[in-house]
Amino acid sequence: MTQDLEQKLWSIASGIPFDSEYFLQASPTRKLKKENLFSKEFETYFLELGSGWGEVAIEMARKQPNTGFVLMEKKFDRIRHTFRGIERHSLKNVKILCVNFNWFLEDVFAENVFSQILLNFPDPWPKRRHHKNRTMNPKFLYSLKTLLPIGGKFSFATDYGPYARRVLRIFRDDDRFRPEEIELKFERSEIPVSHFERKKREEGKRIYYIDRILIKK
Ligand SMILES: C[S@@+](CC[C@H](N)C(=O)[O-])C[C@H]1O[C@@H](n2cnc3c(N)ncnc32)[C@H](O)[C@@H]1O
Repeated sequence: MTQDLEQKLWSIASGIPFDSEYFLQASPTRKLKKENLFSKEFETYFLELGSGWGEVAIEMARKQPNTGFVLMEKKFDRIRHTFRGIERHSLKNVKILCVNFNWFLEDVFAENVFSQILLNFPDPWPKRRHHKNRTMNPKFLYSLKTLLPIGGKFSFATDYGPYARRVLRIFRDDDRFRPEEIELKFERSEIPVSHFERKKREEGKRIYYIDRILIKK
């Protein structure tokens, strides 16, 4: 990325005008540390990338009041909908950033902030000429390595088989991550099912779950 482009993207990312107590502002000059995220410190912090309508994180946040949930989502209507969900349940442990996580990730947060990072159903970019737009690539593993501590967990889901196979290959080539139990699962119980996931299941799609633990930096 050229410096000019980076400045332009930062001015977009840091100028989003949401006036809400649930909104976190990203800044090019100050990385967010644990103590900057919420008005109190939590035991652990969870990051969801592309949180959509927010129902997954909201359900988890209700059950895990000692974990702070940070959501990144680029679509305004989904962010507003998530704000309403947070308000309805009076949650104090969910905040949202309106930042494109393919532009900035390890520049937004300090190192080792999150014990778990979730990427559920990112755009699969099925056409070969668009593969360069996929989130899952070796550079993204660098971002994960920066934001997770040793022992931290990354959870991925997709309904697109070729993307799942590509993600398996990316992880096989990187000895910093190991499978949590098995390389690939077709069921996952610890993370709630989103509307999107339910719809895909109803269409008869198989869902591929890939979990990895960071074992070295
Ligand atoms: C297919 S939806 C899945 C939503 C949710 N994760 C779920 O499981 O239902 C993907 C979501 O990620 C968001 N998204 C995709 N790429 C993004 C990016 N680079 N930065 C921020 N949000 C992104 C989209 O706006 C959309 O809401």
